[in-house]
Amino acid sequence: MIRQMVKLNWLRGLALLAFALLGVAACSQNENVIRIGVFNSLTGGTATFGISSTNGIKMAAEEWNAKGGLLGKQIQLIVEDDQSKPEEAAMVVTKLVNQNRVAAILGEVASSRTLAGAPIAQKAGIPLITPASTNPKVTKVGSYIFRVCYTDSFQGAVCARFAVQKLGLKRLAILTDVKNDYSIGLADYFKRDAVLLGGEIVSEESYSEGDTDFRAQLTSIKGANPEVIFVPGYYTEAGLIAKQVAEQNMNVKLIGGDGWDSPRTVEIGGAAVEGAFFCNHYSAEDTSQMVRTFVANHVKKYGYVPDAMAPLSYDAAELLFDAIQRAGSIDGAKIRDAIAQTKDFPGVCGNITIDAERNARKAAVMLQINQGKLKVYDVIQP
Ligand code: PHE
Repeated sequence: MIRQMVKLNWLRGLALLAFALLGVAACSQNENVIRIGVFNSLTGGTATFGISSTNGIKMAAEEWNAKGGLLGKQIQLIVEDDQSKPEEAAMVVTKLVNQNRVAAILGEVASSRTLAGAPIAQKAGIPLITPASTNPKVTKVGSYIFRVCYTDSFQGAVCARFAVQKLGLKRLAILTDVKNDYSIGLADYFKRDAVLLGGEIVSEESYSEGDTDFRAQLTSIKGANPEVIFVPGYYTEAGLIAKQVAEQNMNVKLIGGDGWDSPRTVEIGGAAVEGAFFCNHYSAEDTSQMVRTFVANHVKKYGYVPDAMAPLSYDAAELLFDAIQRAGSIDGAKIRDAIAQTKDFPGVCGNITIDAERNARKAAVMLQINQGKLKVYDVIQP
């Protein structure tokens, strides 16, 4: 009996040793690279977000690698597609952490998916920077979770002020995607600020991501006779909603948030989105040197003018690489501290200072769709 146990322990020890040796071999194989995980929606309902974001990250990594890399090593991006699904986001982040042993993670665009992945990175002590998730809950997940964009408390205030004060329209309706943390949060902030400024919410309706028929909600909204419909959702539904608003012959202004930022909004909405406004992180027509250089490089590499996800994600990657360089190490805690200390980092979408809540204070632009193009209507400082 005792003999058997000794033998078993011995075998177990051998197995452990073999595992350890394998682990060392796997690590030393990759000692000349620094692995950075990326998770984004490369397919599914919001594929333009993930593709655009990942393209921006690739530009940053290629530039750093061409200049000699990071801490003398080449950056290796490990890109995972979460298919626009939160459950899948949690799975791929688990893989990046456990299997690929990445030094840090960039992603996601959509708040619901960052909220699904972030707790896994936090638990593992792997820093995560989201380029574009604006819901306030995201960075509250913990001390390893950062963002380089403004939050929806600001974006909601910007949209409310724009409707009530700039356009002078007080009768407001809201159509929210109840399956989407971003949409729910942004609707709330818009409402809070609009009411404070003297606006009246005359109708509140909802839908679920993936819906294609909004006619019942729009009939009810029409009955309340609003001057504005605020649509804090993503581009596919926003485009369809605009079309169905046009069908109903309503005399309203449509206002959206950054979720409208995709070439698909105009492709789907067509004439129905003409004159609509939405809040965003940048304008490709900005004449600053950084925007011009970025847009020119992006057009050269990918052949089209980028939406906001590409420069925001480029900025997130640049900031991360700079932090790793300053940290002088790929130790998670050291990288986290270096990110937290970032001040006045020059980004394409504005300078970035990481505050105590791991957020960034950035300006917003109000864009108007004009002959299918996005024109800057207003710039709003934080
Ligand atoms: N802010 C959105 C979210 O949190 C994502 C997004 C960012 C969409 C930028 C478009 C442009 O879900």
